[in-house]
Amino acid sequence: MGLDAHSFRAVMGSLAAGVTVVTTTDRQGQPRGLTATAVCSVSLDPPLILVCIDRTADCYEAFQTAEIFAVNLLQEWQAGVSRRFAQKEARKFEGIGYRSGVTGAPILADVLAHVECRIRARHPGGDHTILVGEAVAHGLASSPDARSPLVHYQGAYARLGGGLPADPS
Ligand SMILES: Cc1cc2nc3c(=O)[nH]c(=O)nc-3n(C[C@H](O)[C@H](O)[C@H](O)COP(=O)(O)O)c2cc1C
Repeated sequence: MGLDAHSFRAVMGSLAAGVTVVTTTDRQGQPRGLTATAVCSVSLDPPLILVCIDRTADCYEAFQTAEIFAVNLLQEWQAGVSRRFAQKEARKFEGIGYRSGVTGAPILADVLAHVECRIRARHPGGDHTILVGEAVAHGLASSPDARSPLVHYQGAYARLGGGLPADPS
């Protein structure tokens, strides 16, 4: 018997995750995207990434018809960007700085890093679809102080707390 949704959320919410906005373009060439933490590197050779997209998301069809996507890794001060892309709002990109990457996927301004991918496979994953993309381009924030990721933990935004205490062993 599977866990109920409340228990599942509670336990998986304890897995601290970097917050991303996954973007693509729809058939009309319009930018689409959503906030996502279900993002993971899969393979080094070839370099593969997976993202899990909710089948009920408004932008789901765009991800189903697209050949590319980009993963935008947010900085700790970009919780507002995360909130915007987690809302059902048709004009998510209005007033947001972005450009088209080499694949045509939207790259958000000032992100910690981004990876552009060509979609290689789609797998069923319950109420989500798992997209597997091959990383073909990337960027890292050039500013040396732009190195702190936005984290999501136990249902709230958080930041990294710094280094570990000394290991007694
Ligand atoms: C912290 C956080 C993480 C999320 N992670 C995912 C995810 O990995 N996959 C997903 O499909 N939705 C995820 N969501 C939910 C979507 O961002 C949200 O449903 C969004 O409104 C979908 O956009 P759309 O329906 O306007 O296309 C997450 C939301 C938050 C706040």
